[in-house]
Amino acid sequence: MLKEVIATRYITPLREGGSLPGLIEGDDLGTYVLKFTGAGQGRKTLVAEVVCGELARRLGFRVPGLVTVDLDPVLGLGEPDQQVQELLKSSGGTNLGMDFLSGALGFDPLAFEVSAEEAGRIVWFDALVNNVDRSWRNPNLLRLRGQTWLIDHGATMIWHHNWPGAEASAARPYDAADHALARFAPDVRSAA
Ligand SMILES: Nc1ncnc2c1ncn2[C@@H]1O[C@H](COP(=O)(O)OP(=O)(O)OP(=O)(O)O)[C@@H](O)[C@H]1O
Ligand SMILES: [Mg+2]
Repeated sequence: MLKEVIATRYITPLREGGSLPGLIEGDDLGTYVLKFTGAGQGRKTLVAEVVCGELARRLGFRVPGLVTVDLDPVLGLGEPDQQVQELLKSSGGTNLGMDFLSGALGFDPLAFEVSAEEAGRIVWFDALVNNVDRSWRNPNLLRLRGQTWLIDHGATMIWHHNWPGAEASAARPYDAADHALARFAPDVRSAA
């Protein structure tokens, strides 16, 4: 079960994300990144976030805490952006929230060092859950106080969008050529 939070304030949209996630404040005074149920990517994306985010956490990776966020669309009435207004209107009720890591930087493979051991563990995990969204173009990794955090597991378990093809998909080797950590000589064998 995820902790349940009620949104008390819509702060601002996070422009970096393709799904236009928002920053909100909760009734517990926490700040959360909100992934909208009404976003075009669909609910299955949020299911994948929960399943693979929690799986990663249990495997010992750093993943921002996940919560459910109850949203009253009225909170966004002051938001001037039409697209954000629409998102809020179509996302009344339960949405997905994650602890906002204040001060975290987006991972840059040219600016940060990662050990072959850590790179191996992350690439191995991404292969396990078929993550197609951790490339050097869009690493979906954050760096905070010298530590790596895993975010955005929406594009994992691609097979759950097409169950008849799931078995064939599981048998296909994972292509890590474009992976954000490919240049760190990921030690996948030790990770396995
Ligand atoms: N927990 C967090 N703490 C701090 N910043 C975050 C957090 N989650 C996301 N962000 C910031 O918001 C951006 C978008 O988040 P995320 O990648 O999860 O959204 P998305 O819409 O699925 O994006 P895309 O599909 O474009 O990768 C991240 O690249 C990061 O800059
Ligand atoms: Mg992302």
